[in-house]
Amino acid sequence: MSNELERETVSRHDFLSTAGVGSAVAAIAFSTIGMLRLPKPRVLPDVSRVIRLGKPSEFPPGTVAMLPKQRICVIASEAGVAAVSLVCTHLGCILKRTEAGFDCPCHGSKFDPRGKVLAGPAPRGLPWFVVSQAPDGTLLADLTREVAPEASYKAST
Ligand code: FES
Repeated sequence: MSNELERETVSRHDFLSTAGVGSAVAAIAFSTIGMLRLPKPRVLPDVSRVIRLGKPSEFPPGTVAMLPKQRICVIASEAGVAAVSLVCTHLGCILKRTEAGFDCPCHGSKFDPRGKVLAGPAPRGLPWFVVSQAPDGTLLADLTREVAPEASYKAST
C-alpha cells in the first residue's frame, strides 16, 4: 500500500514537473513569436488626409474635377484652384454635381456652387480645404484644414 502511494506521489511529481517545463517552454515560444511579429503592424495606417491632386497644368481655368474616391471636387478658375468637400453634412453621403451646385442622393439636401445649403436636412454648408503645392509642383488638398468658400490657390508653374 505504501509502495503504491509512493509511486503515485512520484507520478504526480513527474506530471507537475513536466507540466511546469511545458508551460515555461510554451510561454517562451509564444513570447518569442510575439516579439518577432512586433515590427510588422497589425493595423493599417490611417489614410492620408493630404491628397495629391496632380500638376497645375491638369487644372486649367474652368475645370471642375469630381474626385469621389477622395470625396472632393476641385474647381479651377482664373483665381486659382480650390477644393470643396463632396461629403454631405447631414449623414455623409457623397454628393453629385448638378447645374445648380451639389445634390445629395440620400435625403435630398441641395447645395449651391459655393457649398451653401439651399434645401434639405443638411445642417451646414460644405467645407472648403486648403490647396497648396508640394516641392515637386504637385497640387495638394489638405482635408484637415478648412478655408473660406472658394478660397483659391494660385499655383506657380
Ligand atoms: Fe445628404 Fe442626408 S446624407 S441629405
